Amino acid sequence: MNNRIKHQEEKDNPTKSEISRRDFFGLIWKSLGVLVGIEVLGSITAFFYSAKNKSTTVAKQLLEAGPVSSFGMNSVTAFMGGRFYLARLQDGGFIALSLRCTHLGCAISWEEKRKRFICPCHSSAFDINGEVLNPPAARALDYYPVMIENGIVKVDIGNLKERNTFNKEQLTYAQ
Ligand code: FES
Repeated sequence: MNNRIKHQEEKDNPTKSEISRRDFFGLIWKSLGVLVGIEVLGSITAFFYSAKNKSTTVAKQLLEAGPVSSFGMNSVTAFMGGRFYLARLQDGGFIALSLRCTHLGCAISWEEKRKRFICPCHSSAFDINGEVLNPPAARALDYYPVMIENGIVKVDIGNLKERNTFNKEQLTYAQ
């Protein structure tokens, strides 16, 4: 038998060792495929997990205003560093009002005597809730969410809320 015929026969009738070698390499390739699959799946999961976390954990910038008891009813306290006025209404509800006038953005000031905010630029006026009393401002003052934790009033100064009018849902009460 010449070499060519022998080689052809071996090709047509593989020996036991060749079969086990093929099985071995096949197993290796399958294992690699599974590993690559796991890696890809892990990467996709990590991507969506981090994207979900980013969307739900908007960083809060909480400014501690002070204990609830330090704010009287129907009072307004200026926090110029945080650029807001903390108002406590007659019923005990808190609201943190932006000091920017909603007309053209001038800084408003609180008139204790008349219990109102006044804008020095074009005389817009707002009540203690931030509601417009006098135009040209056409909508209520913007506000920041207030939280009360362990008796401490905190204002989220990174989360300015725009609004057209005041409503009671914008208030925060101590428990
Ligand atoms: S900017 Fe306040 S009234 Fe115009």
